[in-house]
Amino acid sequence: MTALTLSTAGAATLRADAIVVGVAKGAKGPVVAPGAEAVDKAYDGKLASVLESLGATGAEGEATKLPAPSGLKAPIVIAVGLGTVPAKDEAYGAETLRRAAGVAARTLSGAKKAAFALPTEAAEDIAAVAEGALLGAYAFTAYRGTERKPAKSGAAGKNDSGVKQPLGEVTLLGGKPRDKAHKAAVERAISLTEEINRARDLINTPPNDLYPETFAAIATAAGKEHGVKVQVTDEKALVKGGYGGLLGVGQGSEHGPRLVRLEYTHAKAKKTIALVGKGITYDSGGISLKPPGHNETMKCDMSGAAAVLAAVVSAARLGLQVNVTGWLALAENMPSGTATRPGDVLRMYSGKTVEVLNTDAEGRLVLADAITRASEEKPDAIVDVATLTGAMVVALGNRTFGIMSNDDAFRTSVHEIAEEVGEASWPMPLPSELLKGMDSPTADIANMGERMGGGLVAGLFLKEFVGEGITWAHLDIAGPAFHEGAPYGYTPKGGTGSSVRTLVRLAERTAAGDLG
Ligand code: BES
Ligand code: MN
Ligand code: ZN
Repeated sequence: MTALTLSTAGAATLRADAIVVGVAKGAKGPVVAPGAEAVDKAYDGKLASVLESLGATGAEGEATKLPAPSGLKAPIVIAVGLGTVPAKDEAYGAETLRRAAGVAARTLSGAKKAAFALPTEAAEDIAAVAEGALLGAYAFTAYRGTERKPAKSGAAGKNDSGVKQPLGEVTLLGGKPRDKAHKAAVERAISLTEEINRARDLINTPPNDLYPETFAAIATAAGKEHGVKVQVTDEKALVKGGYGGLLGVGQGSEHGPRLVRLEYTHAKAKKTIALVGKGITYDSGGISLKPPGHNETMKCDMSGAAAVLAAVVSAARLGLQVNVTGWLALAENMPSGTATRPGDVLRMYSGKTVEVLNTDAEGRLVLADAITRASEEKPDAIVDVATLTGAMVVALGNRTFGIMSNDDAFRTSVHEIAEEVGEASWPMPLPSELLKGMDSPTADIANMGERMGGGLVAGLFLKEFVGEGITWAHLDIAGPAFHEGAPYGYTPKGGTGSSVRTLVRLAERTAAGDLG
């Protein structure tokens, strides 16, 4: 992964392949952002007009490359757009900096070393630039080239494919390596983004290599590395335990289901939160097979589980004063002679029976078992994360996840936290009248209800499995989990790591005693 350090060196003296500066949209053309004074000086104070003559406006997402003048020790300067100049006494927003740093890091793929001279006054600006650079530099190259290597998540490295490798090293100028807050900001950003990039690797790994067993092995190794206890319940033990949801979804596949429990504890923790992730390593739809056009990206259907793994390991790496338990509900949803049929009834781990009317509504089945199991330990809150419904994508688009909860205040908190860390989300209701649509003539409940409000119906189904009196929120990340368009900001094509930053900040807030 890309290395990142702080340096008090001047932009004129640091040796690098490129220097990154910020340019904003002023009233009368582009304006060079603070942090780039030394670079501007090397252009005799004319950087803004040079940029303007090259067509730069300072708009977000823009990157302009220009040759460096002789006064600099780097051959090129890259000016990244920061949008409108902030009002007097206001600073550039964290998400603006994060995205601009991401654009710069992406533009610099293939380079060895870059110096970033962006406006970073406060420690949180340093954090934002560090996060954006480390997330933007990400590339999934493990499957490029002819070199044979063991199938392993994150097997990025040398290859002969001609695909550029991520930017090697970032130096943040203006950051103070001896300033406690700056140092902490960088350390947090490194741990957090390494885990987000781990989640992205898992999501991008093709489903012939990533299935419940191999996912569980990767989680076990990651846990071992960072002091997280990992317990894997295999198929045989799931049968013994009566996990009808996980087994019903997994029974059509050659690769059996798994339930993984991750546990991070802190000796002084006062609260425990449980995170539950949907881990369908491939969703074909099962016997209710998805048509072509709907299954090509369904390796992403384990993004919730990847986010939960990343969040628990991050909490451990950051040493947060809170207990965090993670549950990965892993199964592959395949059609076969042993697969669950529409019309089958499953007896869930909770004891409830579910009539499976559509085998493509599988996420709620594996999550229900994991939520019931998580509830047994009486955590202070449960948050599940899932690529659960196409309906949520229809409602909120490709970049925003939906938040549902059995507690309005908690839902509001999660929404505010997501906003604070730069993840787009929106609160959604759980209208109880939609429950009726899931009435089954045969079983306690059906796994499908009314088509209208499908995302809320799925949320209501999950709510039925939350333990009495436990605060719960459900994040439907079906839209933002996997990005199919062109990269933007720090968001690459493919797995995004959606919701990890929200979950980690939720853990931090819980540790600080800010929540309930
Ligand atoms: N994994 C899908 C939801 C999904 C859709 C995720 C698009 C990412 C992008 C889920 O298992 C599913 O198939 N849901 C069905 C539910 C329906 C059958 C009630 C859906 O949304 O169509
Ligand atoms: Mn499905
Ligand atoms: Zn699914």
